[in-house]
Order: sequence, then C-alpha cells, then structure tokens
Amino acid sequence: MEIPTHVAIIMDGNGRWAQERGLKRSEGHKEGGKTLEKLLMHAKKCGIKYLSVYAFSTDNFKRSQEEVDYLMNLLIYYFKTKLQTLCKDDIKVVFSGRREPLKEEVLKEMDNITDKTKDNKTCLLNICLNYGAQEEIVDASLKVAEDIENGTLKKEDLTRDNFYRYLYQDLPPIDLLIRTGKEHRLSNFMLYQAFYAEIYFVDTYFPDFLEDDLDKALAYYGNRDRRFGL
Ligand code: FPP
Repeated sequence: MEIPTHVAIIMDGNGRWAQERGLKRSEGHKEGGKTLEKLLMHAKKCGIKYLSVYAFSTDNFKRSQEEVDYLMNLLIYYFKTKLQTLCKDDIKVVFSGRREPLKEEVLKEMDNITDKTKDNKTCLLNICLNYGAQEEIVDASLKVAEDIENGTLKKEDLTRDNFYRYLYQDLPPIDLLIRTGKEHRLSNFMLYQAFYAEIYFVDTYFPDFLEDDLDKALAYYGNRDRRFGL
C-alpha cells in the first residue's frame, strides 16, 4: 500500500470528548496529548516522513483565559518531558505559526526542542502553534516582497513550487489531511500545502482516534486515484 509522505491532522473534538464524559475541557486536551504521542510513534512505524498537527490556531486565543493557559502549560509540559523520547526515536520537531503573542516561557521551550532535535531524520513533526494559514500566506508574501526589493529574488522567478520556501516551514505538500471530530471544514489550516490533499473526515473525537483509526485513514488514502488535475 502506498504510504503518504506528508500527513496532517486537525485534532478536533477534545472539548466535546471531555464534556460528554462530564469532565472539564482541559481533560480532553490532556487525553488528546496522549493520543498524539501514540499516533506519532505509529506514524513513524508506518513510514510517514512528515506529520503536521494543528495544536493551536491564531483564533484559539479567543477562548477563555483558563483554557488558553491550560493548553500552553500542556504544550510546555510536552516539550520539556518528551525531548529524550523524540531524540531516541530520531524525530525532528519544527513549528509553524507566529511567535507574537506567545509567552516567553513557551517560546523558550519551542526553541529548545527545535534545536535539540534539529539533526533527527526519520520523521518530522510540524506543530502548528498560534497558526493560521491565511496569516502564513500573508507573512510569506511579505518575505517575497522583501526579497524582490533587496534583489535576492527576481519577480519572474517566483513559482508555485518555490513559494514553499517562504512559508513557515519548507515541507512537501500534504498528501493526506485528516480531520477528527465531526466537522467538515479546513479552519484556516495549511491551505497552501493542502492544494491536492486527499481529505479524510472522521466523526471520532481526537482523543479516541488511535492507531487503528490512522490505519483506516491510510487505507482510504491507498485506495484513492490521485490525478493532480490530469
Ligand atoms: C481542538 O479540540 C484541539 C485543540 C485546540 C488543541 C489540540 C492540542 C492537543 C491535542 C494537545 C497536545 C498537543 C501537542 C502538540 C503536544 P477542541 O477544543 O476545539 O474541541 P471541541 O471542538 O470539541 O471544543
């Protein structure tokens, strides 16, 4: 079966998973974190080279301060405690998103994990944090304008392929985009990179989306006839 090079996941439904169990929304995020750990190891085992995940959107800052703080602390916890495992498993971590207005302690752990895993090669985990796809395209366009202005790039040399270099991370296009949690929308996630992605929507809330479910998504992908406009 053909394995996609780049898989992306919109990890939706943590809050509802918790609420349906009479728990606080934060419990859902905690459980979602455990799920992501399992999926990452499974993705690596399956031979997936790039895994992008939507951890926090620019619009998620509109949530209650309590929930934002909880998520940020959960992310810090993961970045601090999982470093050794990531290195042992040869997983490289990169981030996509704007740094502003993330707190210094979050940025410090992001920079640390990026630096410590930078030479790892087997699998790359791209964490979209304070991320918005339209923001990414706007930020990339500004970098393009700058390069044209300072003479690094000729206007006529810009193509849809080399535009990737101006995005937050220069990754291959997404082959398979998974969204858990019942909604059928893209929510400002990697719009440029997902231009020919196969999209797999699944009702399961993210905390319950485990290894078997990823296998099902991969089987779905394996059965697609990708024509790329031909
Ligand atoms: C969406 O569910 C999920 C999030 C906004 C957070 C995702 C974060 C994690 C899985 C934590 C671990 C991440 C890393 C990178 C270590 P929701 O809250 O929108 O759920 P709802 O739609 O049911 O309210």
